Amino acid sequence: MSGNWWRDAVIYQVYPRSFADADGDGMGDLEGIRSRIPYLAQLGVDAIWLSPFYASPQKDAGYDVSDYRAIDPRFGDLSDFDRMLETAHAAGIRLIVDLVPNHTSSEHEWFQAALAAAPGSPERERYHFRDVTDPEVPPNNWQSIFGGPAWTKTDDGKQWYLHLFDSSQPDLNWDNPEVHEEFKSVLRFWLDRGVDGFRIDVAHGMVKAPGLPDTGGDGTIEMIGTTQAPFFDQDGVHDIYRTWRPIIEEYEGDRIFVAEAWTDSAERRSLYLRPDELHQAFNFDLVLAPFSAADFRKAIDSEIANNAGVGAPCTWVLSNHDVQRHVTRYGGGEAGLARAKAATQLLLSLPGVVYVYQGEELGLNEVLDLPDEVREDPSFHRTGGEQIGRDGCRVPLPWKREGASLGFGPAGEPWLPQPADWADLSVEAEDGAAGSTLEFYRQAIAIRKGRKATGLTWLADPGDNAFAFDNGALVAVVNFGDEPVPVSGYGTEVLLASADLVDGHLPGGATVWFAK
Ligand code: NOJ
Repeated sequence: MSGNWWRDAVIYQVYPRSFADADGDGMGDLEGIRSRIPYLAQLGVDAIWLSPFYASPQKDAGYDVSDYRAIDPRFGDLSDFDRMLETAHAAGIRLIVDLVPNHTSSEHEWFQAALAAAPGSPERERYHFRDVTDPEVPPNNWQSIFGGPAWTKTDDGKQWYLHLFDSSQPDLNWDNPEVHEEFKSVLRFWLDRGVDGFRIDVAHGMVKAPGLPDTGGDGTIEMIGTTQAPFFDQDGVHDIYRTWRPIIEEYEGDRIFVAEAWTDSAERRSLYLRPDELHQAFNFDLVLAPFSAADFRKAIDSEIANNAGVGAPCTWVLSNHDVQRHVTRYGGGEAGLARAKAATQLLLSLPGVVYVYQGEELGLNEVLDLPDEVREDPSFHRTGGEQIGRDGCRVPLPWKREGASLGFGPAGEPWLPQPADWADLSVEAEDGAAGSTLEFYRQAIAIRKGRKATGLTWLADPGDNAFAFDNGALVAVVNFGDEPVPVSGYGTEVLLASADLVDGHLPGGATVWFAK
């Protein structure tokens, strides 16, 4: 495996609960993933990022870890993990695992020990506990990202503990050296097992401003599109990464860290990518951008300029397990799917790395009409349904046209119900079918492999809401508008078009690549 593979890789996010269920309990598992490695190899991805599979009470779908060195029995055990990793490696696919260092589960042995110990004890020093002075008034005005206050009282009512997310996810105290040592050891545990890197959850969290001061306003901070806060994007967090980088460098195989860091600018994000810190940081600007040439161009320019400054690759994302799927974000239906394919094709021609979220290669939409009683996202429950939550992008994948779970598992109901019309979006329905989204992704990824971008030079715009660029290996034209734009001046040999050209015109909501 060659050096710096991660500078232009295509990385596929597997959300273990919803990818493939081998044991038939309605929830995905590691053996399910292993059995589908050939599918991922055929898609042409270089690596998998696997969302958490650790022991967990699953109060936040596994982002509440009770043992960082164990597998949740719902997903399998360590030998299943090893087998899956071996199968992926044998297929030439690397594996990045998720690391959750901002908080543990309240069922983690450290938190249980803290609850059993007295205020002021070393056990409580691993978290943020504060004395209760007024039972109605928490220590500061911070609000949980999932709704409600970020503080909960211990059962005896004597102390509060901090949780930026659910009350079952107490925040660790990163001023405590023990916390640092523990995570270094966890990193080594998985590196020794052979993983190729880590996606760092809430990588802009962990360090809190001294004294835990109030935020401005009412204390409500969104995770998505957030700005700096006394608990987000504090400068001290970079010191942690400077201690992690030498550890990963000790291991062979060009292993990496990718940050989930929601910052208020590409400039702040690039600080995480200095040469002695992390390798990649998701760029969420295109997740937040409307489907418009001006917005996309601004985000692209800013990412390229800032990341060049620190020598890091751009890291492009359109969907993941926290945001509405991009087909739906772009309006849904046929037009939404057309725009989603256009945006994906655009990403695959930008310089840098592209993350693909499971199911987007099938053109899956967000499931908006899940019944309340099946919803699991704590943000739905903590806001009394005011926030619809993220279950709609986590519905299990359809592999077959028929069966109780459309081939997701051998039997039984999946943990979230699938829409009936996903039969037509199943792998079985799309595999080998001319014009299917799956075949489009396979083709686009294959073409990209032979023609990797070396840079980006903007060309004259073909229309008001359209742009064109030369990436050193091909010319891309993207039409964000509704009306066709003339493209014959950009090339003659079409490598791939997300929608057919008509009389030298690219339809609305489409991308075309021309050979240079
Ligand atoms: C970000 C993860 O992507 C999200 O799913 C999770 O709820 C929060 N971090 C808390 O861990």
